[in-house]
Amino acid sequence: MSGPLVRDEAAQQLTEYAASKEYGSRGIITNTGGNPIANHDSSVTIGLRGPTLIEDYAMFDQLTHWTHERISERVVHAKGSGAFGYFECTNDISQYTVARIFTSVGKKTPLAARFSTVIYERGSPDTRRDPRGFAVKYYTEDGIYDMVGNNTPIFFTRDVTAFISFIRSQKRNPVTYLPDWDQYWDFISLRPECFHQTIYEHGDRGTPDGFRHMHGFSSHTYMLINADRQITYCKFHYRTNQGVRNLTAQRALQLEGQDPDYSIRDLYNAIHRGEYPSWNLYIQVCTPQQAAELPFNLFDVSKVLPQKDFPLIPVGRMTLNRNPSNYIAEIEQLAFNPAHFIPGIAATPDRMLQARLIAYADTQRHRLGVNYLQLPVNAPHYVKNYMRDGGQVINNQNGAPVYHPNSFNGPEVDPRIAQLFPDRRLCDKIVQIDSIVEDNYQQPGVLYREVFNEQQRQTCANNIAFTLRRCTERVIERTIMELTKIDDDLGRRVSRIVNQAVNPTAQV
Ligand code: HEM
Repeated sequence: MSGPLVRDEAAQQLTEYAASKEYGSRGIITNTGGNPIANHDSSVTIGLRGPTLIEDYAMFDQLTHWTHERISERVVHAKGSGAFGYFECTNDISQYTVARIFTSVGKKTPLAARFSTVIYERGSPDTRRDPRGFAVKYYTEDGIYDMVGNNTPIFFTRDVTAFISFIRSQKRNPVTYLPDWDQYWDFISLRPECFHQTIYEHGDRGTPDGFRHMHGFSSHTYMLINADRQITYCKFHYRTNQGVRNLTAQRALQLEGQDPDYSIRDLYNAIHRGEYPSWNLYIQVCTPQQAAELPFNLFDVSKVLPQKDFPLIPVGRMTLNRNPSNYIAEIEQLAFNPAHFIPGIAATPDRMLQARLIAYADTQRHRLGVNYLQLPVNAPHYVKNYMRDGGQVINNQNGAPVYHPNSFNGPEVDPRIAQLFPDRRLCDKIVQIDSIVEDNYQQPGVLYREVFNEQQRQTCANNIAFTLRRCTERVIERTIMELTKIDDDLGRRVSRIVNQAVNPTAQV
């Protein structure tokens, strides 16, 4: 049985260490230079009550290591956990892509996965209502492929500038340093493209039961390229084999106090018990011609591609079977980047995706240092290029030349990759138009009316009202007005609950 009040699998870690071979040869303590030290528990002092001497390097070594022991947390998705495993291809999709991980049945590719909450800090409870990150790093023979998605098929905003404000509005108020429901609902009600995912998030799936019982999605549309340079657009779906399970709003709140690391614990314990979680990977495909005929923009990440018209095609299975043995080295320093593509998969004009292609490497150079891709957990099997030096550099590429072209046997590009360059033409007037003008209400309405059942509609209204009722009047009014545009019934239900909460004696 797992949980914070009993000794679960995670609680056995030190006992297991003590029983291991390593403990048998206990070893001697050294400083970070490997020099044996005389005393680990007391500093060198002048007499019994005098000051510590600066020559006590063993103490100084420990103290200055300790003052540097915290690394920056991720600007979003700070709280999470991860594990290692493999992907096995079960269905050859070479008609769409040359990506080798997806084209030979039975092929296994090692991978790392990390799951996370989005908004709150590294120490925050991991059962909060928030989307969950669902990021997978494939270590392929063509380098790293990172699929950095969420547990939702859509995202709130469709343009990066709106994204930045969206995130700021959900982070702490810089004066009170508290989450601020006015700034949260004010922004959402002023940018109605956010409602599709907001309704999803306020449904049952907004509080998944740990990380194993949720699906994962690329959310964005990507481009697949086959050996004939033909393009197919594609969305990726990971479907959990553990079954979808969610926490009620009440249970999620209770766990915030009782076991704020519930989701980390659940994943660690399951893998430790040998219950390896797995997900089946599917794609949804759409030709460029079909994309042009859709009633919405396929490259708008706030929209779903209906499964009834674009059914899921199986590709393979991801299994996680190893816990990290060093959390900071392997999970905290794990660095995903949506720009890490392998031949056969590429970006689309999705504006959010385009911005992500820059943002991740930028923040990671700040968070982990310029050579973060040489850390073992991030390093590709093979890397040759003309980049050198920088802090904590490990790989000097055996003295190969540092400039190109050269006459000293430096690496050359693979001409087969250039042949895969997709055949596209992008040509239009340069504009700067607010995407708020696009349809913001149709798909959220379908989600509320056709995907949710009666109980889920009520839960969604309750969950929205739970935080909306704390807002100032004009934010409440505008939010209810927008919810009514999505669906009359949703607007009415939320209004009723909020009015009762704000004024318990009101007749509504
Ligand atoms: C323009 C929009 C976006 C920007 C600028 C952005 C930026 C970032 C940044 C800077 C990080 C921290 C990375 C790190 O420190 O390693 C991050 C993490 C993450 N983002 Fe985004 N993001 C955007 C949209 C999205 C979307 C639409 C998704 C999902 C479809 C997503 C999924 C994730 C995930 C899963 C992580 C955590 C990865 C991990 O586990 O380390 N992001 N994002």
